Amino acid sequence: MTVKIQDLDDVEMLKANDPGGMMEALWNLPEQCEEALAIGRRVKIPADYGSVSNIVVTGLGGSAIGGDFLRLLAGDRTDVPVIVNRDYVLPKFVNNRTLLFAVSYSGNTEETLSAYSQAREKGTKIVALTNGGKLRDMAERDGVPVIIVPAGISPRAATGYLLVPALAVLESLGLIGDLSAEMADMTAVLRKQREQFKPETGTANNPAKQAARRFFGKIPVIWAAAGNTEVVATRWKGQINENAKAPAYWNVFPELNHNEIVGFEVPVEMLRQLEIVILRDEHDHPRVQKRMEISKDIIKDTVSGVTEVWSSGGGHLSRLFSLTYMGDWVSVYLAALSGIDPTPVKKIDYLKNKLAEG
Ligand code: PA5
Repeated sequence: MTVKIQDLDDVEMLKANDPGGMMEALWNLPEQCEEALAIGRRVKIPADYGSVSNIVVTGLGGSAIGGDFLRLLAGDRTDVPVIVNRDYVLPKFVNNRTLLFAVSYSGNTEETLSAYSQAREKGTKIVALTNGGKLRDMAERDGVPVIIVPAGISPRAATGYLLVPALAVLESLGLIGDLSAEMADMTAVLRKQREQFKPETGTANNPAKQAARRFFGKIPVIWAAAGNTEVVATRWKGQINENAKAPAYWNVFPELNHNEIVGFEVPVEMLRQLEIVILRDEHDHPRVQKRMEISKDIIKDTVSGVTEVWSSGGGHLSRLFSLTYMGDWVSVYLAALSGIDPTPVKKIDYLKNKLAEG
């Protein structure tokens, strides 16, 4: 039974609360991304995989979020549309001119296996990205290229492994340019950030611990920019849900200015429990940035507080990952404040087991 922790600067207690090593996995993210690039670049992909009309990433949860990043990053670089499929069923347009990444860290997620089988029937150009399980077995049996990534961490801590090799495949097919410079910038940004976010850095100098303190006992509502930081908002929500076992919600500008912004009048007491988080990136559309400022003013006296988090780094990959990394650390500190072990996801396991019963 874990003990509720109040002092985020008690490093021994933080570590005792994290027997699954989530903080260690977070610390290792820059090295994971570098290793993932090498893994992805080693894989032999048939040359005709480059002649495609669309790219689909199919996966769920921690294995789907890499697809969201891929969609945004490829969107800057290639004319080929990318979509993310989080379902048993693939869209009808998927055919033999589709490049499909079937991503499942465990290799046993039934929705992903179902989508994989459909893709096989459609003659789709498939790449499997997994640690093993049935997906690996099926892909090896079918002669489908498989990228095997290391085991031992939670899928949501394996974002580098579940994104970067897919980017490397697009690089090797000539669908996007050389990743080296942007990857180097991104890992340098993360290495700098982790010094700030690590358990040994006290709350006074640690923005992740400070944010966790503000969110504790509140419901975070994460606002981001459509087509940009929106992927990070999804990630923050998922990490708070899975690591801190707490609710969180998200929405995007400009859409939220056409509905959600109106809903801040009643119930007054419940609105006081919301902590609004605005993910900021100086590359957001100027009108979106203006909307963020005005919206902040509209809601600031109604809610518990407003936390703004700015991206850092030069390239798109760095900026998105810098925001993501902050949210990852916030989620483990939020877990610690409740004395919750961030690693187990018993409700997901329960669901998977119940479904496996037939
Ligand atoms: O973070 C998690 O554990 C989940 O979101 C899983 O990623 C999700 O259930 C899918 O499993 P897998 O990543 O093994 O396909």
